[in-house]
Amino acid sequence: MNKVPGLPHDPDKRTVSGMRPTGPLHIGHYFGAIRNWMDMQREMESFFFVADWHALTSDYADTSRTKIYVEEMVKDWVAAGLDPEKSAIYLQSGIKELAELHLLLSMITPLGWLERCPTYKEQQQNITGKDLANYGFLGYPVLMTADIIITRGRWVPVGADQLPHLELSREITRRFNSLYGEVFPEPEARLTPAAKCPGLDGRKMSKSYNNGIFLNENPADIEPKVRGMLTDQARLRRRDPGNPDVCNLYPYHDLLTPEDVRANIRSGCVSASMGCVECKDIFLKGLKIFLAPIQERRASLDARPGIVREILEAGGERAGKESALTMEAVRAGMRMQY
Ligand code: TRP
Repeated sequence: MNKVPGLPHDPDKRTVSGMRPTGPLHIGHYFGAIRNWMDMQREMESFFFVADWHALTSDYADTSRTKIYVEEMVKDWVAAGLDPEKSAIYLQSGIKELAELHLLLSMITPLGWLERCPTYKEQQQNITGKDLANYGFLGYPVLMTADIIITRGRWVPVGADQLPHLELSREITRRFNSLYGEVFPEPEARLTPAAKCPGLDGRKMSKSYNNGIFLNENPADIEPKVRGMLTDQARLRRRDPGNPDVCNLYPYHDLLTPEDVRANIRSGCVSASMGCVECKDIFLKGLKIFLAPIQERRASLDARPGIVREILEAGGERAGKESALTMEAVRAGMRMQY
């Protein structure tokens, strides 16, 4: 077997994840991803990146807003609690080794694996108005595999929607290792505990539905949105009893409201002793308390021009060093050191 340099670190103590820069973060991003990333940041050596190349797989035709979205996202991450001193925060397109690894992995990835990927089939069918019959779109999971294994860590904090991609990443990694030697630890998903964050209209919270509450949104703008938010649609009058389990607002109390208050809300709702207006008052108060420190940190970042570039450069340096080491091992394993 080819000799490859050993791992300089414990892969079980290393994590990586990424997010596409599609706009400002909403509280669904916070409870669905960032909170989990922060747990990882506390426990292990962390690599978090802006997946700007992945944004191109579907939005290649209009790149005019990407730069703004990248800036917004990095500021929102740090305001929410990611610490650039602890975690490497970087830009995917800043790590050129990723392009090299992606190309090499593309050579060993069977087309059938990619064509069978459920997210690929689904999006091909559901997304109309964009031509997704592209090489890069099909290869989304190959690039994602490169993202994950280039820093040679084990853990990938993601939502359940990403599991098919993770499974492919594991398969591609196994294939690489069996062909060229054990260069990579097999990645594993660290699932984000399911947090229900419905949008204001009851659909999934998403920028494209315009039904979100954003981390950097002015409380004065949030209030009317929350006031108009759907609750239990069967509760037509104040004196009707409600059902928190079908209410769009109630899941937020699970995330933001202390347990004793929550118990009061539940009993008040089912007995009709509390109305939706009061329930929303409690939510708005909790939301304000939750958002205040995030928005304070965000304002201080906004007051420091060049801060995003600084963060991304420092993170890029750390991730770049690891990537360079990885690629030496890859080239050695593939006998490409001519
Ligand atoms: N596909 C992920 C998403 O849409 C983003 C992503 C790209 C990612 N590369 C990654 C996530 C690597 C984790 C690890 O959310």
